[in-house]
Amino acid sequence: MQVNSERFLQDLHDLRQFGASGVGKGVVRPAFSPADIAAREWLAERMRAAGLEPRFDAVGNLFGLAEGRSLLMGSHSDSQPEGGWLDGALGVVMALEVARASQEAGGPAVSVANFQDEEGRLGVTTGSAIWAGHLPLDRADALTDSAGVSFAQARAGMAHLAGERIDPARFTGFVECHIEQGPWLHEAGEAIGVVTDIVGIRDMTVTMEGEQNHAGTTPMHRRRDAFQALSAFNTALNDRLRNIVTPQSVWTIGHVSLHPGAHSIVPGRVTFSMQWRDGDSTRLKRMEDVIRQTAAEIAAEHGMTLSFSGMLGLEPVAMDPALRAALSAAATELVPGRWRDMQSGALHDATNVAALMPAAMMFVPSIGGISHAFTEDTAEDDLVAGLNVMARALPALANVR
Ligand code: GLV
Ligand code: MN
Ligand code: MN
Repeated sequence: MQVNSERFLQDLHDLRQFGASGVGKGVVRPAFSPADIAAREWLAERMRAAGLEPRFDAVGNLFGLAEGRSLLMGSHSDSQPEGGWLDGALGVVMALEVARASQEAGGPAVSVANFQDEEGRLGVTTGSAIWAGHLPLDRADALTDSAGVSFAQARAGMAHLAGERIDPARFTGFVECHIEQGPWLHEAGEAIGVVTDIVGIRDMTVTMEGEQNHAGTTPMHRRRDAFQALSAFNTALNDRLRNIVTPQSVWTIGHVSLHPGAHSIVPGRVTFSMQWRDGDSTRLKRMEDVIRQTAAEIAAEHGMTLSFSGMLGLEPVAMDPALRAALSAAATELVPGRWRDMQSGALHDATNVAALMPAAMMFVPSIGGISHAFTEDTAEDDLVAGLNVMARALPALANVR
């Protein structure tokens, strides 16, 4: 089978025109935005041109179906609010090229998946979580983004494309190529990472409410300042988590909203996101306990009321050994000494799909380890090396069932 690297790179560059940020190669293509929907419609046409049958389900997941039972490959084409051109897009376009080349060569059959809202505008890997049955549709429909738009409202924007759920029994396994999004491959000058397991995640929103007041007349000792409470919480949390985590554990306050947000007002309320990730479910729970306990103590000290939203989460998941072995063998042949086994600290649709069928992942390097930023990039030689390793692995991948 002969993959065509020029056709593959051209598709990748064409896809980044949808929602192009105008800064580097970055994209702004959040799930269900006009740019996201247009990109999905364009990809559906590319699938059709490749001899696949494009089908959308009710939540905007797009499949390009080969005839009969097939291997499924893919990822997602939605982006973070400020995203790179390869996060997700690489896996979809690589799947398209492998499926197309394999059609031209007379097999093995490969179908393509492009999951919706992997980046969690409304949930956490929302489209594949629904497809895998982790997240019932009525619960998903009630999820909201940071502007209060619900999943039900958002997916109504794709109602004209919506179809039936695609039966997972059509597929023998799932393989996702992705950029690493971390520094390790790039720093070591390596070409390929074969993923051993994907970490788990917990995500929630915390609100602390004190007293809004005048910034000039309110003595410091009488303030119930929401920002001061958040600041103290963050310092205490970093101290306490340090005692129970490993170098792989991470936690992030990525979104903060201070109310009302004015120079001359002591802020009365803060709402912030609290997310943590680890490869071990027990440690995730221990981190949760520390987070809740620390928030309660700091809130009491600062005279704040405290509330937590519901918590979203995904468990850590191991990748399928037989699919991994197929990827490792191809990497050993094509990039000997320049690949490694590694854990994924980023989330991926493969976490959800692993509940339905054998699933595996392969990484290519990210320049400087940068992702979830407009500056995200990968050398084109590395993109093509990834395509070649995937194509070399295909016969063995398609044999796993
Ligand atoms: C998905 O992009 C993640 O946040 O890991
Ligand atoms: Mn991604
Ligand atoms: Mn991402």
